[in-house]
Amino acid sequence: MTDPRDPRGLRGDAPLLDGWLRFTGQAAAGELTPMSVPGHKQRRDLTGAVTEGDAPLYGGLDTIKHADELLADAERRAADLWGAGWCRFSVAGSTHGNQALALAAGEPGRPVVVTRALHRSLLLGLVLAGLDPVWVLPEVDRATGLPGPVPAGAVRDALACHPDACAVFLGDPSYVGTTGDLAGHAAAAHDAGVPLLVDAAWAAHLGFHPGLPPHALAAGADAMVTSAHKVLPACTQGALVLARTARLDPARLHRAFEVTHTTSPAGAIMASIDAARALLARDGQDLCGRLLRAVAAARDRLRQVPGLDVLDGPAVEPAKLVVLLAGTGAHGNAVEADLIAAGMPVEMADRDTIIPIVTLADDEPTVARFTATLAGIVEAHRGPPRRPVPAASWTVIPDVAMPPRQAFFCRNETRSAASAVGRVSGELVAPYPPGVPVLAPGEVITAAALDALRAARADGSRIAYAANPTLATFQVITRT
Ligand SMILES: Cc1ncc(COP(=O)(O)O)c(C=O)c1O
Repeated sequence: MTDPRDPRGLRGDAPLLDGWLRFTGQAAAGELTPMSVPGHKQRRDLTGAVTEGDAPLYGGLDTIKHADELLADAERRAADLWGAGWCRFSVAGSTHGNQALALAAGEPGRPVVVTRALHRSLLLGLVLAGLDPVWVLPEVDRATGLPGPVPAGAVRDALACHPDACAVFLGDPSYVGTTGDLAGHAAAAHDAGVPLLVDAAWAAHLGFHPGLPPHALAAGADAMVTSAHKVLPACTQGALVLARTARLDPARLHRAFEVTHTTSPAGAIMASIDAARALLARDGQDLCGRLLRAVAAARDRLRQVPGLDVLDGPAVEPAKLVVLLAGTGAHGNAVEADLIAAGMPVEMADRDTIIPIVTLADDEPTVARFTATLAGIVEAHRGPPRRPVPAASWTVIPDVAMPPRQAFFCRNETRSAASAVGRVSGELVAPYPPGVPVLAPGEVITAAALDALRAARADGSRIAYAANPTLATFQVITRT
């Protein structure tokens, strides 16, 4: 008989899921009197239903003394599925994974070749690890205003100029789903004797269907970070870090991973990563096939709307749906507001682009409902067609004055925007989404960066991480 709490019968291949089902089942049956954390003690009469399903990994999914064995079993199964020699589950997202890999990559002061289209989590990973970025820039497509991959030669050239670099760290697919020549980048890194590390936050499904590109490890990377909560059906914050150990030391990876991971991992998140891995192992091809069909149908449907387009082509991950609005004249923020009102929030919207996230949980009717609603809303906001303008995050050309870690620890002062131009930023400033820094600690606040940030804000973007998100003032490094 099907267990309604495990309708696909995954628990036999998912030790953490099995532990979670057992513990929460006992709690629901009133069989537990825990004298351990979490403090809600499985009661619902205090903070209510919000703690339902919460169970600690240690002392919940298994005893504090034995949970590591359960965890190691689950992580080994994931390592096997991705063809990795090492894997860890994180309850702190790809944010933590990126920082763990940065801490594993080199020593303070060593250069690392990094894409400038990096997520802010990786930039702060460089701060933590004291690595000195050698930036490589993605190509920006003039027609769409969106970033493509980092060109194949750029990484090789950067490594040639910096023979002491300790690693190459790229993001692939990019935030908008564009993919690059990972095999070529891996060859360049390996020829230079360094590992290729890949932030694949959006790509946990890659490699699980013949219609999808291979995942980063299969393409030759030495390590990848991916969010199980993005395209896979895991709980928010669930992520995996996977590595091959020919060029990376597993003991160092382990130390680096543990530095900033909580000592109290949420068992529900851990179990959901395990369950998502078991699902992918067994039903991945079918579910990815459904995802690909749904996205292909959505692309066809949306292209029928006059002026509307979607990002497409051989360098675009086929399960990514990126809607290009410029030809319709509709403003993405107005479209987003109507989508929210219709109960269909999307991942990202700016003036020219809408990015809905389609995942393994979506079926064709759901996606068709979304595209029909989107098409109707676009009609309601139609205006004169315009040329897309690349967002600030994709056009930034950093003017580096000092390494990010040095700048992070310098004394700061608050300056008006006008008087901050030409000074060195002490803070990271990023329109979010996509969370790609326009300013990083140690970079000169140029008039171009200020204008681009102001334009993003005026257009309705959320400006994140700045001490003053209105952009009226900036934190600059104090002159000594
Ligand atoms: C490219 C990229 N890397 C890393 C992250 C961080 O992922 P998480 O939210 O799982 O911490 C994000 C977040 O959206 C991202 O877009």
